[in-house]
Amino acid sequence: MSSALDAFTRRESQIRSYCRSFPVLFERASGAELIAEDGRRYIDFLAGCSTLNYGHNDPDMKLALVDYILRDGVTHGLDMYTEAKADFIEAFETHILKPRDMDYRLQFCGPTGANAVEAALKLARKVTGRQQVVAFTNGFHGVTLGALAATGNSYHRGGAGRPLEGVTRMPYDGYLEQGTKGLDLMARMLDDPSSGMEPPAAFIVETVQGEGGLNVASAEWMRGLEKLARKHGAFLIVDDIQAGCGRTGSFFSFEEMGISPDVITMAKSLSGLGLPFAMVLLKPEHDVWGPAEHNGTFRGNNHAFVTAKVTLEKFWTDDSFARQVRDKGDHLARRLAEIAGKHNYGTKGRGMFRGIDVRDGEIASAICAAGFERGLIIETSGPNDEVVKVLAPLTIKQETLDAGLDILAEAFEVTHRAAAAA
Ligand SMILES: Cc1ncc(COP(=O)(O)O)c(C=O)c1O
Repeated sequence: MSSALDAFTRRESQIRSYCRSFPVLFERASGAELIAEDGRRYIDFLAGCSTLNYGHNDPDMKLALVDYILRDGVTHGLDMYTEAKADFIEAFETHILKPRDMDYRLQFCGPTGANAVEAALKLARKVTGRQQVVAFTNGFHGVTLGALAATGNSYHRGGAGRPLEGVTRMPYDGYLEQGTKGLDLMARMLDDPSSGMEPPAAFIVETVQGEGGLNVASAEWMRGLEKLARKHGAFLIVDDIQAGCGRTGSFFSFEEMGISPDVITMAKSLSGLGLPFAMVLLKPEHDVWGPAEHNGTFRGNNHAFVTAKVTLEKFWTDDSFARQVRDKGDHLARRLAEIAGKHNYGTKGRGMFRGIDVRDGEIASAICAAGFERGLIIETSGPNDEVVKVLAPLTIKQETLDAGLDILAEAFEVTHRAAAAA
């Protein structure tokens, strides 16, 4: 191991994780590539877990930020009115809300996804006066205690060190055997005053479960869920933290589904450049917050406002970027199906949010390791880390996407050859 890494093993907490899979010192990053200290280039199919949908260090975002810093734009202003915030709000209204006929207030919370989820859950409980929230099998919503209660993963839940309360778990779309409808079960339980299920404050759901293994909810299921929420006076919260900002082929992941969530949580690729920035979108009639009721020193990151505005003006003034993402997603689906088909596996996901289910965490991890040896950064997801997940930047060039997929195909080959020989 390079001596440059000694500081990490000597001083950084055992909590470190991704760096264990990719133990090199990264020095620079550009577009869809990370560059190590020895000059080796890696194609990035992890993209900060969908935080870098527009790639590393987009030149227009960099320029706007450098210009803002050099002219002494406000870096930190608590939640005071700043030029950067005003510009972002106006751009979000113009390019995202108005063209989609969406009427939402913007709440700037602490800069992590988990903080946006905490705010969303608090708001649902405050408005409805209820405590229980329905979350779904394999859902991932963050690791602070409120969000963690809604997260399914037992490893993360185990880290809480105390009971996680206030959440009822229900089956996600496709969780039960074919023909068994989880929504029908929920509907029946909610209608039965003796079922033991309390009327919920909210249903919190991802349209595609990123950490949970790329499970996809159908539009029909999402509409059924919205109907249940309406019938029982509960919020529908769509957690678009990983699936949003274009990952599935539209700005919001639910745009084609004909639903209108009460609350939408956003983070990850919102700033575009990878700066911490999270936001809650809430319907105006739910905006019952008192001033600073959910506060935080870093609510509203002015540098992120600057780069986020660039993302909106560069990628979202019309449908052309979304169309490109959908085309790339179709190409990705075809290539993954070829790789999976050769080894008798299935593919999962939607848009540029796809992967291969190898049904075994050890095999998936060996494939990712073989990919890394060959210059590809890729990770797994799913309850047993059994899904090899492609999260390439949406802006990746076709030839780079194909080069990464060639490496992935080779990683599958060598892993299976090695397993067969063992
Ligand atoms: C759907 C979803 N919600 C919430 C979170 C938590 O976001 P953060 O890690 O920024 O707290 C994540 C992170 O992966 C996520 O994928």
